[in-house]
Amino acid sequence: MRMTVFGVGYLGATHAACMAELGHEVLGVDVDETKIERLRRGEVPFYEPGLPEILMQHVNSGRLRFTMDYGEAAEFADLHFIGVGTPQRKGEFAADTSYVKDVIARLSPLLSADAVVVGKSTVPVGTASSLQEIADSHAPDGVRVEVVWNPEFLREGFAVADTLTPDRIVIGLADGEGSQGFARVALEKAYAPILASNPCPVVVTDLATAELVKVAANAFLATKISFINAVSEVCEASGADVTVLADAIGMDPRIGRRFLNAGLGFGGGCLPKDIRAFMARAGELGADEAMAFLREVDSINMRRRERMVEVTVEACAGTLIGKSIAVLGAAFKPHSDDVRDSPALHVAGMLSLKGASAVVHDPQALGNARALFPTLAYADTALAACEGADVVLVATEWPEFIELDPLAVTEVARGRVLLDGRNCMPAERWRAAGWKYRALGRGAF
Ligand code: UDX
Repeated sequence: MRMTVFGVGYLGATHAACMAELGHEVLGVDVDETKIERLRRGEVPFYEPGLPEILMQHVNSGRLRFTMDYGEAAEFADLHFIGVGTPQRKGEFAADTSYVKDVIARLSPLLSADAVVVGKSTVPVGTASSLQEIADSHAPDGVRVEVVWNPEFLREGFAVADTLTPDRIVIGLADGEGSQGFARVALEKAYAPILASNPCPVVVTDLATAELVKVAANAFLATKISFINAVSEVCEASGADVTVLADAIGMDPRIGRRFLNAGLGFGGGCLPKDIRAFMARAGELGADEAMAFLREVDSINMRRRERMVEVTVEACAGTLIGKSIAVLGAAFKPHSDDVRDSPALHVAGMLSLKGASAVVHDPQALGNARALFPTLAYADTALAACEGADVVLVATEWPEFIELDPLAVTEVARGRVLLDGRNCMPAERWRAAGWKYRALGRGAF
């Protein structure tokens, strides 16, 4: 099949390359010339394991091309995916849907035959039907544009696998699950290779439900993380161990162990903005009380960052002035170079503002971190960051930090205090090497 993908950031570039991998002919479209130039050369402008290989393969085979020309895209296919961003609006909780709307408003008048526009971006419920109105008013006479919603659940770091072997495919159609129209047929055909090799449930529903499935899923994940982090606060106050507790409650299949890792909490481009947009949209719909608890989920999450700073101050005998702290991690999670709303960088920034010299290392995110926080100090290796450090603080659970040899760090660091912001480090190994170990949610040193 031929298809286009509008917006070739994390979501769109991955989707485009994966659709080519499934055998389709794909045209990626973006307004950012630098991004398009890089993708044309087969370069992924961000770190995503496995993506460079399939991108290069399909750019070379000619099955995957990129353009800035909307006219070319309109001519190329009658199936158009949208994966542009829906960031948090400045100074508000609500999501900014202007990029999605722009795509529809620019594309619709250029279409010369009936087409399906498939939204993949995370949007406030009700967006798809407002996009249908834009399409109806902008499409030429006699051309029918059908807007459908097909939310994307991929995780950064596992984007290729999540796209090619999803847990489920959700398709929202204006006519609901009974529809057998062109849009449903086109999408099922596009995903047929996935369903043939790795069958997964396909949920066909109405537009509003499909839009809400995505935000509800992210709100649930954020709530699960903040739940364990709230319990972690009680563990700290009572001397209990949140990691053992999480293992024990996670053994109940109704609860499950995943997303119960206590520590510095969630960040990134999705969970924080999505829970805020969900609260804002619920409020607009008159259901603000229903999502009010998400405000608490957000505050618990933010409190963990402050608590990490308090624990660091305690470890430095009450003051950070003149202290050197190695902050291991800048990405919001491992296997990513994304520093959007990164708990690690937030903590590093707060430590620095309180007078410490924070030296940050991250295996992939140093470039993005430097651009966002140019005033922090950065080191090219974990050991270099630890040189002369009074405290070593692990803020992102990269495997190379977990595997660090405490004896090697002992040789370069000044102090012997390891603070584990992700409950990921082998505590006994560090203690055996003479280090004091402290983690969030696991009592005192
Ligand atoms: C998330 C959703 O998982 C994905 O389905 C959606 O499409 C986009 O948003 P992502 O932002 O890539 O994906 O990251 P995710 O793996 O969900 O982690 C989010 C944050 O939660 C990270 O900062 C991570 O460190 C944190 N986290 C995760 C915890 O603090 N504890 C956990 O147990 C799990």
